[in-house]
Amino acid sequence: MCGIVGYVGGRPCRDLLIAGLEKLEYRGYDSAGLSLLEDGRIDSVRAVGNLSNLRAAVAERRDEGAVAVAETDATIGLAHTRWATHGRVTEENAHPHSDEEGDVHIVLNGIVENHSELRRELIAEGHEFSSETDAEIVAHLIERHYEGELTDAVRAAYAELRGHYAFVAMHVEHPGTLVGARHECPLVIGVGDGETFLASAIPAFLRETRTVMQIENGEIVTIGPDSVDVTTAAGEHRDRDIEEVTWDEDEAERGGYPTFMMKEIHEQPDAVAETITDRLPEVDEVDLSELELSAEQVAGIRRIVIVACGTSYHAGLVGRYAIETWARIPVEMDVASEYRYRDPVVGSDDLVIGITQSGETADTLAAMRLARERGAHVLAITNVMGSQATRDADSVLFTRAGLEIGVAATKTFTSQVAAIYLLGLWLAQSRGHIARDRVAELIAELKALPRKIGETIEATDQHVRAIARSHYDGRFFLYLGRHIGLPVCLEGALKMKEISYIPSDAYAAGEMKHGPIALLDETTPVVCVATESPVLEKVLSNMAEVRARGADVIAIGTQGSELEIGDSADQALFVPETDWILQPILAVIPLQLLAYYTARLLELNVDQPRNLAKTVTVE
Ligand code: G6P
Repeated sequence: MCGIVGYVGGRPCRDLLIAGLEKLEYRGYDSAGLSLLEDGRIDSVRAVGNLSNLRAAVAERRDEGAVAVAETDATIGLAHTRWATHGRVTEENAHPHSDEEGDVHIVLNGIVENHSELRRELIAEGHEFSSETDAEIVAHLIERHYEGELTDAVRAAYAELRGHYAFVAMHVEHPGTLVGARHECPLVIGVGDGETFLASAIPAFLRETRTVMQIENGEIVTIGPDSVDVTTAAGEHRDRDIEEVTWDEDEAERGGYPTFMMKEIHEQPDAVAETITDRLPEVDEVDLSELELSAEQVAGIRRIVIVACGTSYHAGLVGRYAIETWARIPVEMDVASEYRYRDPVVGSDDLVIGITQSGETADTLAAMRLARERGAHVLAITNVMGSQATRDADSVLFTRAGLEIGVAATKTFTSQVAAIYLLGLWLAQSRGHIARDRVAELIAELKALPRKIGETIEATDQHVRAIARSHYDGRFFLYLGRHIGLPVCLEGALKMKEISYIPSDAYAAGEMKHGPIALLDETTPVVCVATESPVLEKVLSNMAEVRARGADVIAIGTQGSELEIGDSADQALFVPETDWILQPILAVIPLQLLAYYTARLLELNVDQPRNLAKTVTVE
């Protein structure tokens, strides 16, 4: 999750830009850089690692005699924090990027999906690239279209790009202008007195101005010290209202949401998009070459073992269905704290997957080490670069959810699930277990998930709030599901107990009659995951059994099954349709919200529940 800050105005802006980047650090990054335009030349500094490395690099420039950045009074510039997607973590791959003459500089968030074909075209035309990134293409494209008007050149470049991204461009011949474009990734304008900011999030400039203008998808914006011009991709002018942000500093960090957890729930469409998009380069191909597993190694996998803790374990349970169904490789699951102590039978034809968002959970690390010592190939799925898991594993698959501050995992969970979907599909494709057109179908569904997650939040939020109001004083919540719905229930119940402290249990619905049914009476809310699946009818029968005991059924169904589900439930919530294996990533959203609103009604601190702490990466 990269960060963008741009400034044009009357003040020297280098330190304003770095201060803006500091406010975006929470998104996570592995390198940073800035470009400043002064006296007809643009100078850039980039550095791997955190912002103190960037500051040191700026200071070094002074020693090298290149005063433009170290001593600058430049009043226009761009800055960026990068989280590597295309290309390794190197200074060359850090932003800003430029064309070979250094006339156009750009910073970009997100992913340009058609970067390979554009790069080929540009190379054929004689362009030379200095990085491995998809972002650099945008600088070259703008240069290709530039005929004196920066906005026109940006518009022409924008028309050639596919993907989800936002970028800002600066040209050496336009010392009073920045041009930005938005396509799915956020970009917002800060309007000051004789100065204007363009950033990926409001906190980047909130210390300087509280006056903002929003940029919508598909819009191009040209800013000067005293001007803002918003146009559509086709060039039509758009009027835009000015808004005043009333957030205090704390609220600003939370992006205007009351809590980090709520902010992170809302970041899930972005987090999942970042995790999947560039790994799906073609309509019918998953690319996980980053795992550095040879074709022979993939063909030789006899069994997969997944080890994880807490929410990450639930992500693994969802992944098991995807891997077994698509790739036909048997998958075993274990909580890492048990696996490490049971002298497991594991060896060289096993692929052991450790799932850990922090990359630092001791039990998961120990389980991974044990498996590796016994000859298994160990793959880590993690959200944190440089974490211990990345050092202990043979292969690493990063989720790209950005830093998660709330202790209860939300966006890291959905990103983990998305990453395992990719893995399952890639294994199936590599082992020839799935038809090409089925891969294409599933890829189309995967790409639609970020949008559908956003729709799920929007469609269910108010309704869940009302449901929480009717049950928050309950003494016990039961969650029932079958098959692919079971891990969703386990995760829903975990969220509920973790942040609302209400005892909650999750059960395979078919097991209910073997004991848990004794818990049911008119006071028990029973959450049933009844989304589209091969066992939906059986879940409906279980719901009838629950209602026969007088308990309230809260059902999570799939849109289109309103009649069927509505008849069998007291309250029902519906998530968008998708392939049944992918349903869990949508079905979990209302359960995150249910736990959230229940805890809020009980006036609890959802970001920092009692007795719980987030595992943090040890430097
Ligand atoms: C803690 C957190 C959980 C998390 C678990 C595993 O218990 O409260 O939300 O799922 O650790 O963390 P990991 O970083 O390994 O995914």
